[in-house]
Amino acid sequence: MAGVKLAFIADIHHYSERLGNSGRAYELREGSDQKCLKETGAVIDAVFAELEKSDIDALVIAGDITNDGERLSHDEIYARLSAFREKKKVYVITSTHDWCSDNNPRRFEGENVYHDVETVAPKELTDMYSVFGREDCISSYTTPLGLVSSCYQVSDGLRLLAVHDDCDAEGGRSGYSEKHLQWMTEQLKKAQEDGCKVIAVQHHLVLHPFTRLINSGQSIGDNFRVASVLADNGLRLVFVGHSHMQRTTEFVSEKGNKITQINLGALTGYPAPVTYISFDGENADYKVEFTKSFIYNGEKKDASYFESHTLGVLFNLLEAGKNDKKDFYERLRANGIKIPSYDLLYPLIKFVCKRLLKMKCRTAGRLINFLTFGKAIDKRAIKELGDMKLLSLVSKVFLSVFDGSYAVKDARECERLAVTAVGELPSRIIRRLPLKEEKKQGILKTTDQIAVLTKELMYSSGPDNMNSTVAL
Ligand SMILES: [Fe+2]
Ligand SMILES: [Fe+2]
Repeated sequence: MAGVKLAFIADIHHYSERLGNSGRAYELREGSDQKCLKETGAVIDAVFAELEKSDIDALVIAGDITNDGERLSHDEIYARLSAFREKKKVYVITSTHDWCSDNNPRRFEGENVYHDVETVAPKELTDMYSVFGREDCISSYTTPLGLVSSCYQVSDGLRLLAVHDDCDAEGGRSGYSEKHLQWMTEQLKKAQEDGCKVIAVQHHLVLHPFTRLINSGQSIGDNFRVASVLADNGLRLVFVGHSHMQRTTEFVSEKGNKITQINLGALTGYPAPVTYISFDGENADYKVEFTKSFIYNGEKKDASYFESHTLGVLFNLLEAGKNDKKDFYERLRANGIKIPSYDLLYPLIKFVCKRLLKMKCRTAGRLINFLTFGKAIDKRAIKELGDMKLLSLVSKVFLSVFDGSYAVKDARECERLAVTAVGELPSRIIRRLPLKEEKKQGILKTTDQIAVLTKELMYSSGPDNMNSTVAL
């Protein structure tokens, strides 16, 4: 049979500029987010223009298509998707940001944030977006929220299981009720009987690729059991979004069946990835490409724009700490850290921010070793790091969380040693503190995960995030 090519994107988070694109309130909101806000429409236009020209057969979108379920944002993205559909097939699932599950929609005007924003309810989402792919739908399941999971016949030999996992697991968390999971396994069995392979897409994570510190709250309820059920019923590849981090993870069930999860990064945040799949009847080859440029207000922005925006979350806070107390505390609060503005503490914050912005890795390493009696970081690694700025290394590691590049690819061994040593530091300190054993073990459960995270980033042995093959 002829091959099929699909493109997968997630977390478009389209934001209508009619909700505000300037003023202090908007600036604080924009500066606290890894992804772009006012530029989302421009990024989507650039990506869709490329996809229209490409040889893909269909585009699959893995949820969070709007910033926060605002009707204005939905209307705009719906119009773009409808136009795109004239050229290529589109399959869409929505997720919690598309019906504003936290009930906190916002628009921004001057210094103020207003909440008088109309949003779209889950049932209406179904009416709006189920037109995409409807002609290929061979079975569907409606969740208690009124969202519709569907199984599509994408080509002769390939089906797409596009499932809505919002609030369907026990306790109202993302995931699947037994009935929903049963419908999914029926689709997998039916596909096998009909000689078809299946790729699934959902919004929340089935597997958490980093550590439970970052990702466990982002995965579906009872996730490893669900992963086993799906793998044991023949599902080999699932696409998810939500974490905004591009990363491929594998899991093998107790019965020895492997499932691969491709976590798609956010389309409108660094590195703005599109994941392409070529299916040849047996295998799916995947390849990730980053968005190279887009035009905003007549100006061309290249890929570094996404990078600067993401790093801005950190750098703008440090600059504010160095220069302006009011700005610093406002930015902290915009990032969800709600502490009172301590006048007495600010000179210390100012000093620390100023030093951090200039500090070299060598100085930071020596300082850490001084505080830990010379044992934390390998002395040769500190020497080799030399004049490298501390924030350059921090930026590399921070960006690799989102782009899945693994610092291991271009990092020097001394950088890897230093970063993993810093990751191990919290546990080393806790082990030496005079705490009750039970309390110590409790804290270590968390600090050990920081060590796991840095090690994973610097030395991962997981599958290739950018380019590989999954046998379906
Ligand atoms: Fe998202
Ligand atoms: Fe999400």
